[in-house]
Amino acid sequence: MEVIIRSDAHAASRLAARKIAALVRREPSAVLGLATGRTPLEIYEHLVEYHRNEGLDFSRVTTFNLDEYVGLDPKHPASYHAYMEGVLFSKINIDRGRIHLPDGLATDIPKTCRDYEARIRAAGGIDLQILGIGSDGHLGFNEPSSSLSSRTRIKTLTDRTRKDNAAYFGGEESVPRHVITMGLGTIMDANVCLLLAFGRKKAAAIAHAVEGPVTAMVPASVLQMHPRAIVVLDREAASELKRAEYYQWVYAHKPDWQKH
Ligand code: PGA
Repeated sequence: MEVIIRSDAHAASRLAARKIAALVRREPSAVLGLATGRTPLEIYEHLVEYHRNEGLDFSRVTTFNLDEYVGLDPKHPASYHAYMEGVLFSKINIDRGRIHLPDGLATDIPKTCRDYEARIRAAGGIDLQILGIGSDGHLGFNEPSSSLSSRTRIKTLTDRTRKDNAAYFGGEESVPRHVITMGLGTIMDANVCLLLAFGRKKAAAIAHAVEGPVTAMVPASVLQMHPRAIVVLDREAASELKRAEYYQWVYAHKPDWQKH
């Protein structure tokens, strides 16, 4: 795991956005795994800015989102379809046929999950997966106790996650209980995993995921087994890491050729 600690969330988001933009420039038909929530918002703002000001071209990029709520209409403002449309898709030149999100309205959920996995395979796999982390250590919506080798499937949200996401729904009671999420095995198949976490509220989950044992009780800890996992943090999210100084020294002394 490479742990990169920046002074604040703005600097961390800029660094992550630069990495994604560099990949799209290098590989114009890159396959990106996208995440929703508060954490990646600024990354998407930067990508839109690079598109508008630097001509970053998304026309051949393919995207797969991590998850979606079951039973929520794509037009519902709290759906991840609506989120992605609002923050990114409507603002860049992406080909709509190359956008993929799990279908929360599917009547045959096991089939839609199998199809999602098949579409990822048909696209040649995910080159870079953006990830946030839940305060309970979840990755995507793989809540604690998720199989570390799970594939795309239905999951039941924990009360903690429903509380964390209550603001989007005007109250916890309206947050759906079920979601479709890529599995941890699906996420682990991505060539690069880019995990971001900001703020004090994420510090314990990050410490457990990065420095604790690999356990289904902290799903994000599975990234310790990933050959190219990059964890980008602000100071607050890094505040419970025992080896923070070491990670900072490593990054500061990285040879230039390794930085991209
Ligand atoms: P957040 O969500 O970015 O809104 O904190 C992250 C997550 O639940 O994975």
